[in-house]
Amino acid sequence: MLENPSLQAIDFHHLPVLADAVLKATADLPFGEFDSGLFIDATLGGGGHSRLILEAYPQLRLIGLDQDPVACRAAKQHLEPFRDRVEIVTGNFSDFSIDEPVLMVLADLGLSSPQLDIPERGFSFRNDGPLDMRMNQVEGEPVSELIQRLNEHELADIIYKFGEERLSRRIARRIKQDLKNNGAYSGTIDLAYSIAGCYPPKMRKGRTHPATRTFQALRIAVNNEMFALEKLLINSPKWLVKEGLFCVISFHSLEDRLVKHSFLNDDRLERVTRKPIIASRSEVANNPRSRSAKLRIARRRD
Ligand SMILES: C[S@@+](CC[C@H](N)C(=O)[O-])C[C@H]1O[C@@H](n2cnc3c(N)ncnc32)[C@H](O)[C@@H]1O
Repeated sequence: MLENPSLQAIDFHHLPVLADAVLKATADLPFGEFDSGLFIDATLGGGGHSRLILEAYPQLRLIGLDQDPVACRAAKQHLEPFRDRVEIVTGNFSDFSIDEPVLMVLADLGLSSPQLDIPERGFSFRNDGPLDMRMNQVEGEPVSELIQRLNEHELADIIYKFGEERLSRRIARRIKQDLKNNGAYSGTIDLAYSIAGCYPPKMRKGRTHPATRTFQALRIAVNNEMFALEKLLINSPKWLVKEGLFCVISFHSLEDRLVKHSFLNDDRLERVTRKPIIASRSEVANNPRSRSAKLRIARRRD
């Protein structure tokens, strides 16, 4: 995978979303007795948020995690000026643990722009690519294998649960039928075309492509995203010092619901934001991917 020049770190450009709001939240970091503190960026990506925080706080150290080795290599380059304060870990945040006191955990969920834009990653139905969608292409099962392995019923359940797609049964039936007839899809566009065919013609013309929800569901399934988020929500408060901050940026309602309920019901946390912070019009105009971003912040009680 890393042989492919289109996946090299050099091309990794990602604009951090809600960066002003995240930076503003750091004004409340509980340095107190800690003259040098540690923060965890659980979703390092290209290191956009981390870079801003490292610039603002020369006394902070960072452990940055990403399950995508390409993102980690990009972040290593982008954070080179701060290398003495930065440790980069390639891995899933659901497996992470730490004993040291942590002042802040940041999770900016979902995909980075390069993951979406590079056709070889297989996330996009606008540019043709292999049916992959794994954030870490070294491990796990790509979408092409997932849709072969699941039966029609299981596939429909995933599309319904993770995509909130009302036509899940029809789409799953079509996918399994196509696979039976043709053996495999040639790529993401082929699959998206087939999904679109399940929609009545009138509904195919909306702002959102008919394959959007199904692609979201398949991506969540192959990356086990909801399980990983649940683990992060349980583990992060354990790592935080008193008044340490937990900031989560989510991009769809399933994630946001989980974060909202966790912040509300976890006795270890006090909500800093009651309503999520969303991007301003000018940020959305400048970075359309910020459109669906929601930032929630909580503080460790004691
Ligand atoms: C939206 S991007 C983060 C961008 C970053 N905040 C920046 O400003 O450059 C999300 C990143 O999180 C990573 N990611 C998503 N789920 C993960 C998980 N469970 N464990 C580790 N990394 C994950 C993805 O690979 C992706 O690079």
